Formats: sequence, structure tokens, C-alpha cells
Amino acid sequence: MSTNHPDPEATGAANPHLDFAGTTPYEDYVQADVLTHLQHLRSDDPGEMVFLVTTQVMELWFTVIVHEWETAAHALREDRIPAARDALKRSVRELEALNASWTPLAGLTPAQFNSYRGALGEGSGFQSAMYRRMEFLLGDKSASMLVPHRGAPRVHAELEKALHEPGLYDEALALLARRGYAVPQSVLGRDLTRKYEPSPEVEAVWARIYADPDQNAELVRLGETLTDVGELVWRWRNDHLVATRRAMGSKTGTGGSAGVAWLEKRATKSVFPELWTARSHV
Ligand code: HEM
Repeated sequence: MSTNHPDPEATGAANPHLDFAGTTPYEDYVQADVLTHLQHLRSDDPGEMVFLVTTQVMELWFTVIVHEWETAAHALREDRIPAARDALKRSVRELEALNASWTPLAGLTPAQFNSYRGALGEGSGFQSAMYRRMEFLLGDKSASMLVPHRGAPRVHAELEKALHEPGLYDEALALLARRGYAVPQSVLGRDLTRKYEPSPEVEAVWARIYADPDQNAELVRLGETLTDVGELVWRWRNDHLVATRRAMGSKTGTGGSAGVAWLEKRATKSVFPELWTARSHV
């Protein structure tokens, strides 16, 4: 006898377990009950839910990406380039997923955004500590960015630690110096709590590496993976800028900035600057 819906018992395919003494092992691991009850809406607008959840999803991706970049920085410090590249390559896929999560917010009209904007008060993504940790790992350090987090001891301590630690690019340049490349002492011994400033000598080092890809295959691959990271971060900033322009034009931000005009300046910042400028000299 044939049937379109074979009985799993008859085919030997066992059904999942249904009985658990306490919460399910899935719940114990994922904590989905916690995660799916963190959506405390501030308005009656049906469009607010996706705004809040997209923001929460992005915070989770920031958390994963910080984890990957810390793993990569640690591996670079120990000259483990393949392990560093594995973590960076994972982060590239994650950045692609992060950037794809703009889709639900990319077409917000001013009227739709206004329906819950007032309920956000002075809340702004500018106050995201995890995004700030990403920027610190990219070399964009600033002690003043700790100020908004004075009231949250754990977050403040994590940010303060990150402020003083070498970023991804600091570790990559230290590795190049150990390999005999002429990375200047002013870069290697720089004040880590300040923003990384581009150096002509570092540009020359990357130009030399890129000029001979056969000889320097491993370092070119590392440079290209860092470039992928830089490009995708730049894309996130630009997607954010465009979504903001569509949703609120040139109004001031809930965080108190000039809004789009301020974000435009932030979006032009270069990530790992010499990896881009060296290309003119290869
Ligand atoms: C379409 C909806 C959004 C609008 C209109 C918007 C608007 C803005 C504006 C105007 C600023 C500048 C600071 C201020 O004055 O508030 C800003 C900063 C920021 N927003 Fe958004 N935002 C949106 C969605 C998001 C989402 C979903 C995230 C995800 C976490 C996010 C993360 C950030 C971050 C991290 C900054 C700081 C950027 C930096 O420091 O360079 N934004 N946003």
C-alpha cells in the first residue's frame, strides 16, 4: 500500500521528544522566553515593533562581531594569521547579515516614523555601547564616548577596557613590524585611547606588500579580509544614513545631533585608512 503521508513510526523515523521535567533544553540554551519578551513598546503604533526588534537584532549582531574581532585581535597578537582570518571571515558574513537587516526600515516615511518617534524621547543609537566597542576595535577611539555610559557600571567598564586595548588594526600593524616591515615607532607606541591617525610609512608598507602578492600571499589575504570588513562597515553607515534621510529628512536627531548632516560626516570616516590609500601606489 502506498500513501503520500507515511506514518513516521512505520518508516522508522522517530518523533521528537515532548516530555521534559522542567523547561525544554532548547529554552535552557537559547533563553527564547527572555529574548521574546524584551519588546516593551512605547506607543500604540503597529509599526513600532519592527523598529524595536530591528534595533535589538542589530545589537545582537554587534555583539557577535565584537566577539569575532576580539578573537581575531588576540590571534594576530600571537601570530596566528589563519585563526585571525577565520574570525574575520566569519565577521564578514555577519556584517552582510547585519546590513541586510536594514531592509524592514529602509523605506520608512516621515509620517510612519513620526508615529512612534516621540515615544523614543532622547533615546538614540548614538548611545549604543556595543556599536561603540565596534568602533573602538576599528581604531576609532574616543574617551568622551564613555561619558553617556557613566550610569551603567558593567557597560562602562567594558568600554573603558576596550578604550585602552589595542584594536584590530594595531594588532595587524604590530604583526607586520614583527615580520620586519618598517612600521614607525610613533604608530606602534601610539596612545591607544586616541583615534588612529593614518601614516605615510604604513601606507608604504601596505603598498610594498600588495606589490608582490606571490611573495606576500598570506599578508595580502589578511589585508583583503580587513578591507572587506572596512567596506561592510562603511556600507552599514551609508545604509543608516539613507534610511535616516528617508525617515526624517534634515530634522535634528533624538540624540541631539544635527541628524543627517552629522551622520554624513561619520559615514565618510575611513576604516583601516592606509589599506585604501596604498592602492594608489601599487
Ligand atoms: C530609520 C530609523 C533610524 C533613524 C531615523 C536613525 C537616526 C539616527 C540619527 C539622527 C543619529 C544621530 C544621533 C542623534 O542625534 O540621534 C543616529 C545615530 C546612530 N544610530 Fe540611528 N537611526 C535609525 C535606526 C537605527 C538602528 C536600527 C540602529 C541599530 C542599532 C541605529 C544605530 C545608530 C548608531 C550606532 C548611531 C551612532 C552612529 C555614530 O556614532 O557614528 N540607528 N541615528
